[in-house]
Amino acid sequence: MSEVYTPSITVLDSPADVEASVADLLIDQISQKPNSVLTLPTGGTPIGIYGLLVAAYQARRVDFSRITTINLDEYWPIKNNHPASYAYYMNDHFFNHVNVPLENQNIPNGEAHDVDREAKRYEQVIKQHAIDLGLITLGPGETCHIGFNERGSAEDSRVRYVPLDEQTKQANLRFFNNSEDMPEGAITQGVADILQAKRILFMATGEHKAWGVRRSLMGDISSDAPASFLRHHPNVTVIIDQAAASLLN
Ligand code: PGA
Repeated sequence: MSEVYTPSITVLDSPADVEASVADLLIDQISQKPNSVLTLPTGGTPIGIYGLLVAAYQARRVDFSRITTINLDEYWPIKNNHPASYAYYMNDHFFNHVNVPLENQNIPNGEAHDVDREAKRYEQVIKQHAIDLGLITLGPGETCHIGFNERGSAEDSRVRYVPLDEQTKQANLRFFNNSEDMPEGAITQGVADILQAKRILFMATGEHKAWGVRRSLMGDISSDAPASFLRHHPNVTVIIDQAAASLLN
């Protein structure tokens, strides 16, 4: 049985406050360790953070030239240039505007023919790095997913193909102009990969995340809520807004 830790929880007024706080923590991390290895998320929650990081780069407050990024997940199958792919997202929101070297950018290949082989390749990428900081968001509704580790994911899971939870599909349809384009599954870092980071920033914003925040931080630590496994990590900082925190206590 793993030890259970109580993460530090910071509740801020608004999503903008959460974004500013997380962006500052990332900039601090990179200032202190310019060759930091970071786990990065996609989706709606972090878009503002990438905007703030781009602005900080343009203002010469941060230099990304030595960092390495390892994204959490990618749909499969999907073309890299599909506007809803996470490859496209990362370029659009971040990489096209900053100086992370191309060879230091890692994301699962949604175009891979052999998904299991691609998962093995990505696992090797993760194993070759000591991850300094993981930025992790919370999935929609009752999924409590991290990465695309949907309900049922084991704590010792590694990079693999996962079918998407119905609630994830419903929530993420907003990113697809044509619902038929939405893949049934994804390649994701496993829970064990995510927990390998030395430090984790776990963020969520909005009332629609309140149930999941409570379930993950106060409910049983189990596969029913993969984000609950974060409480087995000794160095997790939770940063949420008041709406997402509204069911705590
Ligand atoms: P969201 O997704 O930021 O779009 O709410 C988060 C997630 O699915 O992990």
